[in-house]
Amino acid sequence: MTSAPIVVVTGANRGIGFEISRQLASRGAQVVLTARKPGAGKTAVKKLAAQNLTVLFQPLNVTSRKSIAALREFLKRTFGRINVLINNAGIIANGDAPGLEVDMETLGRDRSGPRSAEPSSSLRTSSRYRAHRFRNPP
Ligand SMILES: NC(=O)c1ccc[n+]([C@@H]2O[C@H](COP(=O)([O-])OP(=O)(O)OC[C@H]3O[C@@H](n4cnc5c(N)ncnc54)[C@H](OP(=O)(O)O)[C@@H]3O)[C@@H](O)[C@H]2O)c1
Repeated sequence: MTSAPIVVVTGANRGIGFEISRQLASRGAQVVLTARKPGAGKTAVKKLAAQNLTVLFQPLNVTSRKSIAALREFLKRTFGRINVLINNAGIIANGDAPGLEVDMETLGRDRSGPRSAEPSSSLRTSSRYRAHRFRNPP
């Protein structure tokens, strides 16, 4: 069982989520890189492996309760905890909406998705990891 902090990143196959995964993996975190498209997630993992960074891939569509439940089971079985959830995957119902306004449809999606991604009460988080300091990048 790893003593590294377990960091789950959603929407991590590209963009900001990928870069967050890269930087935290380089600082010693056990990153669980998630993506809704398995092919894209595995490609991202290979890109990081080419930089000598080992991350785990798990599929996750943040709008799917079934997908969230499957990830929760994986995390529970594999680590029994998570330390950080970086819910980066963007959800917006209307792509033309102004950046500072969120419509009710988007809020509804947000409620059914990311909040359900919180670990179940049986998936323990440990306070001893809360003050973890990440290594400086190599
Ligand atoms: N870039 C900016 O300037 C900026 C500014 C403010 C806030 N943000 C926020 O920061 C976050 C990341 O931005 P970004 O520029 O990196 O975005 P991006 O390049 O568009 O990447 C979005 C990521 O989210 C994934 N995603 C979308 N819907 C998903 C779903 N239902 N389930 C799982 N993954 C899903 C995408 O997967 P696919 O590859 O499958 O589409 C992709 O990996 C977003 O929440 C965005 O709103 C960004």
